[in-house]
Order: sequence, then structure tokens, then C-alpha cells
Amino acid sequence: MRVGVLTGGGDCPGLNAVIRAVVRRGEVGHRDEFLGFLDGWHGVIEGRTMALDVERCRGILPRGGTILGTSRTNPYRVAGGVEGALRTLRSERIDALVAIGGEDTLGVASRLSGAGVSVVGVPKTIDNDLSATEVTFGFHTAVQIATEAIDRLHTTAESHDRVIVCEVMGRHAGWIATYAGIAGGAAQILVPEEPFDIEVVCRNLKARHAKGRFASIVVVAEGATPAEGTLAVVSREVDQFGHPRLGGIANVLATAIEDRTGFETRVTILGHVQRGGTPTAFDRVLATRFGIAAIDAVHDRAFGQMVALRADRIVRVPLAEAVSELKRVDPYLLHDVAEVFFG
Ligand code: F6P
Repeated sequence: MRVGVLTGGGDCPGLNAVIRAVVRRGEVGHRDEFLGFLDGWHGVIEGRTMALDVERCRGILPRGGTILGTSRTNPYRVAGGVEGALRTLRSERIDALVAIGGEDTLGVASRLSGAGVSVVGVPKTIDNDLSATEVTFGFHTAVQIATEAIDRLHTTAESHDRVIVCEVMGRHAGWIATYAGIAGGAAQILVPEEPFDIEVVCRNLKARHAKGRFASIVVVAEGATPAEGTLAVVSREVDQFGHPRLGGIANVLATAIEDRTGFETRVTILGHVQRGGTPTAFDRVLATRFGIAAIDAVHDRAFGQMVALRADRIVRVPLAEAVSELKRVDPYLLHDVAEVFFG
């Protein structure tokens, strides 16, 4: 078969491991030919491609980012985007497409599948917010990076008797904040799933200081929001998928904490550091398993499906199901695990 491959949405450690696995299994196991589309759906619309074979994939397993490039282009929001994409797939004689992406990229894949495109999805995102799979590759790496950063923040917070607010990514889910907060011993973890009351946050920090713990790390997810009316935050511009660009809640929070407690409070926003660099071993293995399963799904003609991890097995789920629901942090993790160490 002649198979197209694309990576869409934010880059994520492990994308190259998926590409390598798809190509290796496809070329050696199924005698496929591959064509890489550059910069996600943008490359499909405009017919921008690169050759992809086993040789081209040598050495990419440990590399972060994506050799194909990526973008947040939505063909359904670009004039002539869908027609352009269908035209390219026809002219390049693509028999099947492997789309590697998150909710947005896979949402487009799902709609194109409805329009007759033979597509299989692979879930990626550091946010770990896709409900159809227990975990996405990239998440483990992001948590590891954030945890190491929190470890470093502890020593400076302790030396200076400071509160440090550490903001992590995750969009509208608090998975990175919860895992890195637990692993890094945070004094407070604030996530989008549970709007926070600034007065409660400050009361907890004061109680902690009263017990002689003068340094505190507050981990806040970028998508965390104050309970209505408790703190003013600015609204943001949106991308082609309607998502606001998040980031900066830590600044608002730190000012509010310092004003209300009198404790010196500093901010660290980890930002794209969490998406960069080499994937952990866990993410490389998961990405490799997904890649192999995706090209096998192509040969089983399981189109309109996405590969997913359930009970440590790779399964197939309908793309439509994969993008229908946001996976939120289990309250058990927040209340029965993380909270035990607050205060
Ligand atoms: O979805 C991954 C993610 O890193 C989110 O955690 C974050 O909100 C967003 O992408 C940032 O996107 P960009 O790199 O386009 O600013």
C-alpha cells in the first residue's frame, strides 16, 4: 500500500518513535511505500511532502519533536481546505493515511473518515486528556521534566523561605499538574477540574507556615481557574480549533498569594520545556507499540479507528469515540493521594 503519515497539533516527545515504528513495520512487514506530509493537515492541503523510508528514520527514536513538522491547521477552517486535502490524497495515490495527533488532529481525521478517507489515528498529547486511551505518549516525559523542575525549585524555595508557584501545561485537564505535584511534593495543586478559591489557598499556606514550613511549592495547571468571583483573570485569543492560548495564571496567583499572605512569592512557568527533548523509555515503548498497531490496523482495513492503550493492551476504538470526551483527573488522586501531603 502507499501510506501517508502526518503529525498534527503541538509537538510531543515520542512522535518520531511512532513514525519510525509505522515505517519499519510497514516497509519490512507489509512492503508498504510511505509519504510524509509536512506540518500536519497544512501539508496535506498544500501537497507538501517528504520521502519516508526505513533509512530516513534511522536515529530518530530518541529525538524529540517531529521530523515531519506539525501545525494546528484545521482544513475545515481554511477556505478550500478539505477539497485541497482530498485532491492531494488522490494525486499522491494515497491508499491510507496514518494521522498522529491529539483531539484536534484526530477530530479532523474522524470527519475526513466520514468523507471516505481511509485513515487510522494514533493518539498523542502531553496533556493525557483523551478519554479513549488510558495514557498517551508524551505525558510521561512531560511529568518527568516537570518533576525534576519542582525538585530544583524546592531547594531555592527552602533557602529563601519563599512560596514558588510553578505553572505546568495540560490545557483543560490537570494530569501533568497532579502527577508532577504528587511526585514533586507540592504543598498545593490547582487543576482545571476543580476551580480554586484563593482565600482557601492562602489559608492553607498560612497554616503551613504557622507550623514552621516556610517554603511551599504551589503547582498550578495552566488551565486552572478561580472559582467564580474569587479572582480576576484575562480572557484569551483562540486558535483554529477554538482553543484559547493558555499560560500566565501563575502570575495572577502569585500576586494574589503575596498580597494576602505577605509571603515572598515567585513564579516559574515551565512552558514548552515540558514538550521538548528526548522521550522517556516509557514513552518510546508506548509510541513504538502504537506505531506498529496503527500500520497493522491499516492492513486490516480498520479505517476510522484509533489505536489506544487499555489494561496494557493496544486496542482499536472508533475515532469518533476517541475525540468525544475529555479525560479529567480522577478526584481520588487529588483528594486521597495529593491532599494527604498538603499543609
Ligand atoms: O496540547 C499540548 C499543549 O502543550 C498544551 O498543554 C498547551 O496548552 C498547548 O499545547 C500550547 O500550544 P502551543 O505550543 O501552540 O502554544
